[in-house]
Amino acid sequence: MNIKRLKGFRDILPSETPAWRLVEESASRVFGKYGYEELRLPLLEETPLFKRTIGEATDIVEKEMYTFTDAGDNMVTLRPEGTASTVRAYVENGFARSHPKERWFYMGPMFRRERPQKGRFRQFHQIGAECFGWAEPAADADVISMLWDFAVDLGISSRVSMEVNSLGCASDRSAYIEELRKYLESRSDSLCSNCKERTTRNPLRVLDCKSPHCQEATKDAPSLENYLCEDCAEHFTVVCGILSSEKVPFKVNNRMVRGLDYYNRTTFELLTNELGSQNAVAAGGRYDGLVELLGGPAVPALGFAMGVERLVLMVGEGAGIRSAPGAYFVYRTEEGQRRAFSLKRQLIGEGFKADMDYEERSFKAQMRAAGSSGAAFAVIFGESEIAEGKVTIKDMQKGEQVTLDDKEAKDVLIQRLRMESELGD
Ligand code: HAM
Repeated sequence: MNIKRLKGFRDILPSETPAWRLVEESASRVFGKYGYEELRLPLLEETPLFKRTIGEATDIVEKEMYTFTDAGDNMVTLRPEGTASTVRAYVENGFARSHPKERWFYMGPMFRRERPQKGRFRQFHQIGAECFGWAEPAADADVISMLWDFAVDLGISSRVSMEVNSLGCASDRSAYIEELRKYLESRSDSLCSNCKERTTRNPLRVLDCKSPHCQEATKDAPSLENYLCEDCAEHFTVVCGILSSEKVPFKVNNRMVRGLDYYNRTTFELLTNELGSQNAVAAGGRYDGLVELLGGPAVPALGFAMGVERLVLMVGEGAGIRSAPGAYFVYRTEEGQRRAFSLKRQLIGEGFKADMDYEERSFKAQMRAAGSSGAAFAVIFGESEIAEGKVTIKDMQKGEQVTLDDKEAKDVLIQRLRMESELGD
């Protein structure tokens, strides 16, 4: 049998996980300082949750969801994103009514059956943040600043740019969509077949089409900016004002539309030009109607999600520290192995990383393994040490060594390893 992983699904190997942890730890650290608490959600939900929130006429719902009927005849879907589930959890667990001001973050796999390419997978991972309970523009500016501070913390801020837009409220958008549809119909001959169809079902998405013909045809399309009501325009002005005075770099992009239907007012994307066409490392916006749509009271909210695979590609798969053991044990005979085993375990109990080979290979081979492990010390139970009831500690950097009895050796190792780790910090 030659069973392989599914197309678009990846194994994240141990050589990559330090980079993943770097990204995850940076997000937890920065989001935590901004008052966000971690939430963990199920991977499988009832299908209508996503259809109703993301929107029937979106690519995700139309073509990309992993949906199936389970043994109990329920239509279920592997989550394609985290916002719908977060809002469901917020309403279902009573927060919407009893404690509406909440800031949560989450991380984990999402599933979309898209065409795989660099930075795009069918199982991918997001780290998302959602802020419930504030309609004020300061909340939007705070969320965008947090995303920027994360990029700074991770060390990628010089290689990304922030774009922001306002989609206005539902009535601004419906007036705009009507005008946009008229405009698109007048240029229907220049649009790709996909966009011709979108003109009726989801005209905003035409602005996002990558085809140069469609881009050219929509160059002079009406701009949503001119359709914002006074309140929405003022809200956006204040968001941009705070970001400017806080020196969070951003650019207004009036053509930015999002692939999910739940947004209103502020939307934003963190972009890079290092990943080809998959240029968004993070994206989000306001979704003031979603809590009500899922049966809660009208609670304003906003948030964003970042693509972890894309962030890992940016920091480099080799980033992060793969920690070397502090001590590597080298031994001869069964007795040597027992003593090595015991001392190794005592060091681990003291909080240090230690390693040994379980197979008694030649002394030379074990010393080579000690060297390539990067350990600071080789702890040697050779034949003469065993005969004398002693153990040798060799400093791998300096080449110096001392021979002691086991108890002394343990104290010396603890002391030296503590010094090493302080130097490492
Ligand atoms: P989204 O734009 O669909 O928004 O996804 C957010 C990010 O997830 C993207 O910018 C990208 O980095 C990553 N991503 C999406 N699809 C893939 C894929 N197939 N492979 C790799 N990475 C991918 C949302 O999901 C919203 N829930 C964001 C949000 C949160 N809005 C408000 N709160």
